[in-house]
This record gives sequence, C-alpha cells and structure tokens, in this order.
Amino acid sequence: MEFSQSKTKECLARAFAGICQDGARYQFISKSALNEGYNYIADQLKLIAKNKMAHASVLYSLMLEKNEENDNVNIEAGYPFESQLMQTSLRSSSDIERNEGKNIFPHFAKIAQDEGFDDIAETFSLISEVNLRNSEKLSFLAGKFDDGTLYNDDKINTWTCSNCGHSEEKKEAWEKCPLCSYPQGYVIIPDE
Ligand SMILES: [Fe+2]
Repeated sequence: MEFSQSKTKECLARAFAGICQDGARYQFISKSALNEGYNYIADQLKLIAKNKMAHASVLYSLMLEKNEENDNVNIEAGYPFESQLMQTSLRSSSDIERNEGKNIFPHFAKIAQDEGFDDIAETFSLISEVNLRNSEKLSFLAGKFDDGTLYNDDKINTWTCSNCGHSEEKKEAWEKCPLCSYPQGYVIIPDE
C-alpha cells in the first residue's frame, strides 16, 4: 500500500500530535509539583515529558522518511485538556496513559501492521508499553496522595534523599534531610 493513501499516515500524525501535547502537559504538571514543593515527583514528571519528546522525535522521523510528498497532514482528533494541578492530574494522567497504552496505540499498531508498515507498527507497540508503565507509576503516586501515605507508611520503608543520597529505614520520612537539609519534597517515594 502507498503510504500517502494509508490510514497509517493519519495514525502517525495523530500519534505525533497527541504525544507532543502529552509532553507539554507533563511539563506544566511538573511545574505545579515544583511550586507545591514536591521536587522528586516534579523530576519524575519531567522525565516522562522527556520520554514523550523522544517518542515524538521517532514518530517525526518516520513521517519524514515515509511521507515523500512532504505535504501537510490534516487530522481531526480529540485531545484532553486536563487540570494542571499536580494532585488531581496524577490520576487523570494515569487514565490517559492507560487509554493510550491499552487502546489507542495497539489500535494504531494493528492498522499499520495490516497495511504492511511493520516498522511503524513496532514503534506504536513499543510506545504503548511505555504508556502502560507510565500509567502504573502515576496511579501509584495518585494512590499515595489519596491515602496520605506519600511520606508516611504503615510499614518500614527505605527513604532516600534524591539530592544527597542519604537513606534511612523507617515508617516515616524526615521533614528535613539530616545530611543536606533539603526538604521532604526531595525524598524518593519507594516503589511497592
Ligand atoms: Fe539530603
């Protein structure tokens, strides 16, 4: 199939546009997290934004490689405009990532596969896996906010300062790092 006539071309354009907006949104949320004093979470969100730009770059290169006509690609699609507040957007972002990872990108991959664009299908599939991991990470953090256990757990945790590396095994994280004096927002949230 000719790329110019394919649905894959539209999927590629939609994926690129969506991921660029995801990346912008994560930068906004990261800034909110920083303003609220959640430095470690801000870094995590910034990392997701950086990953999104890497995905966008791969999709952009694929479009340049395949779209020999080099024309404008007109697309119509719905994109989310969610709150930029960190606490509420962790949950909604997790839902968006899950939808992308479970539905949208596998659907795009199937279209590309059926039309014979295996390299694009593989890229969509790999991106969907990252989206699902993002969804889990964001859902985990949202849950910690919801039940108030971000820095205070029922069990012993290893708390580590993301600034200086100081570490302690306790139920509760420190208010101020005993070594570098950086505030609680720099504490690495331990994964379960
Ligand atoms: Fe520290």
